[in-house]
Amino acid sequence: MDMVVVVLPGDGIGPEVVAQGVKVLVTVAEKFGHALKTTQADIGGLAIDKHGTPLPETTLNLCQGSSAVLLGAVGGPKWDDPSAQFRPEDGLLQLRKGLGLFANLRPVKVFPAMADSSTLKPEVLDGVDLMVVRELTGGIYFGKPKRRWETNRGRRAVDTLAYTEREIERILRVGFELARGRRKHLTSVDKANVLETSRLWRQIANELAEEYTDVTLDHLYVDNCAMQLVLRPSHFDVLVSENMFGDILSDEAAILSGSLGLLSSASLARIPSTEGRRRRRTMGLYEPVHGSAPDIAGTGKANPIATILSVALMLRYSFNLHKEAGLVEQAVASVIEAGYRTADIAVDGQKPVNTTQMGQAILEAL
Ligand code: IPM
Ligand code: MG
Repeated sequence: MDMVVVVLPGDGIGPEVVAQGVKVLVTVAEKFGHALKTTQADIGGLAIDKHGTPLPETTLNLCQGSSAVLLGAVGGPKWDDPSAQFRPEDGLLQLRKGLGLFANLRPVKVFPAMADSSTLKPEVLDGVDLMVVRELTGGIYFGKPKRRWETNRGRRAVDTLAYTEREIERILRVGFELARGRRKHLTSVDKANVLETSRLWRQIANELAEEYTDVTLDHLYVDNCAMQLVLRPSHFDVLVSENMFGDILSDEAAILSGSLGLLSSASLARIPSTEGRRRRRTMGLYEPVHGSAPDIAGTGKANPIATILSVALMLRYSFNLHKEAGLVEQAVASVIEAGYRTADIAVDGQKPVNTTQMGQAILEAL
């Protein structure tokens, strides 16, 4: 298998965690005889400083010519001025849009050895294994008009939540397909009691359910869903939602696993099929869900696990390397089992390891 991967370290702790992810990728490629070619490029605040834009043409072109992108994180206080022309985050949003990555997958699992380190009771966390499927290139993030202006009664701003049938259908299909390969339970999240886009969403979900008769579909309002996620999280299998709901719910779901430092993500340009027939490659962007954490950048405190698990998702979804993906996930689980903890997941009495030591432990387990 030829693997062409673009590496975008970005800002803050991005470069530190990505370095560990790349080592894992290199090790897997060597071990299983896959030809790996990685190229590094700029994005985010770093790209604003170097090129005057958060997503340089060269970066986008390079990504378009590859089959997978590994990204660290973007943003930081240096670029936080609300009146600035560009923000580092714009680079990420433009990249998602530019690569057509409409499907964002965020799996959440609880490592048994860590059930005690959560802020939630261990019995609530028992059996938690869910996947948030977030629509990523539409909704309120991208709808037009989106602007800010002066009126004679003060400043005004508008964002627009808009969806087409096609956009809704394809993301719901991702949810149904993934549920089909798991516990066959899909929860569609909306705000159909208030929003017109949500009513369309719910209607299309019900129509598709007639095609996916093996999957049980239920609907939850997003506010109720936020509550159920901490009340009885093990009830969920696959959740599917519009862009901003998914953004919020996935941060919430992340704390189930103990830390945002553990949550990986895949953003895909195509509906993954559970039938395993597909041999074509799927363009994907893989990134930890956590941000650039500027407060700990350079301290060695960053947890590389979210990035390493994102590498596993890359192997699975972009390259169809299911065995390799599973081995990376097992290596992470065994290192946690063995008691290795970075600062974000260490509890009383546990001596934390640094970013590189955690990466090294996982490499050795591989
Ligand atoms: C995420 C992040 C991004 C988002 C930001 C950095 C633009 O919060 O990937 O969840 O809102 O999509
Ligand atoms: Mg977010």
